[in-house]
Amino acid sequence: MGARIMGIGSAVPPKVLTNKDLEAIVDTSDEWIRSRTGIAQRHVLEDGVDCSDLVTEAAQKAMAAAGVTPEEIDVMIVGTATPDTVFPSTACWAQPKLGLRRIPVFDLSAACSGFLYGYQLADSLIETGKAKHVLVIGAEALSRVLNWQDRNTCVLFGDGAGAAVVGPAEGDDDGLLAHSWGADGSVARLLQQPAGGTRMPATESTVADRMHTVHMAGNEVFKHAVKAMQRAAGEVLSQNGHTADDVDLFVPHQANVRIIKATVDRAGLSMDKTYLVLDRYGNVSAASIPMALADAVSEGRLKRGDLVLSASFGAGFTWAAMLYRW
Ligand code: ACO
Repeated sequence: MGARIMGIGSAVPPKVLTNKDLEAIVDTSDEWIRSRTGIAQRHVLEDGVDCSDLVTEAAQKAMAAAGVTPEEIDVMIVGTATPDTVFPSTACWAQPKLGLRRIPVFDLSAACSGFLYGYQLADSLIETGKAKHVLVIGAEALSRVLNWQDRNTCVLFGDGAGAAVVGPAEGDDDGLLAHSWGADGSVARLLQQPAGGTRMPATESTVADRMHTVHMAGNEVFKHAVKAMQRAAGEVLSQNGHTADDVDLFVPHQANVRIIKATVDRAGLSMDKTYLVLDRYGNVSAASIPMALADAVSEGRLKRGDLVLSASFGAGFTWAAMLYRW
């Protein structure tokens, strides 16, 4: 029996940066950003607010939605590429703010696939009886690692968090029904933050050369993303005997609307049944799927019993897809 999402919540920083605002920062235009990506605006953190603060707010909302108290959480997994500190983990910074017990909490580094990787782990923990309630969170403070002089990257990303309380499913046709996940590190160089780890520690030159920011070969990433998301989505549908027509809502990772449309076309899905938040949040990496799920629930697009498909692709490269009953 798989594990199900019992409650979902999100945290969105109040400060909005529109495409028009970006026109004053780099040589770009609202028209270029909208037509090439589907993004209209993104939210960015104010100074003094951390990724772990977003984790805390989203997790509190998810626990309230699930009717689960902090004392009932057994494990917390935070998918993030933008931790508060290299160590300790963002999860450890958030743990006391949430009032969790002395349970295992840790960050999971799988970039945009962090939430789906986390859900898969939570499912295994619950299925083997090692946990009953797992907080699975995707949270990003990407505005802190962007080169605000590079129009190729700074227009794409935003900040935010989404959290899910994952608990036991209520029957065989409930919760996680099928999954596929993988990675290909041989092309890791195509999307990375080169400095700040132990390979390239901070020096005056790494700061001057902006090596502590996102570096991406956009075109290459695009091609890999379409292939991996479509393949993973196809795998989970065939594993479970469902077809694309059975899917009530496709909630993909939101990096670029053109990647999503290509995935939808190739996997035989439909844009009518695809839930998009890219226009309002930009690419929020690990946070994008749970933030979209939270909005889909509050807008009434997602209700108990719906069949949901999610697929993601991110730095690593990592990818994942999941078919789950809401
Ligand atoms: N405004 C105006 N012009 C721009 C901008 C901008 N913001 N950015 C790039 N351009 C220009 C380029 O300089 C280039 O000009 P040139 O032809 O004179 O050299 C032209 O636009 C075309 O550039 P391309 O890179 O070919 O544009 P493309 O259509 O590929 O779109 C994009 C770029 C949006 C980055 C796309 O490749 C993409 O979405 N890639 C995938 C990103 C992604 O999926 N990331 C996922 C993982 S993220 C994670 O894991 C954290």
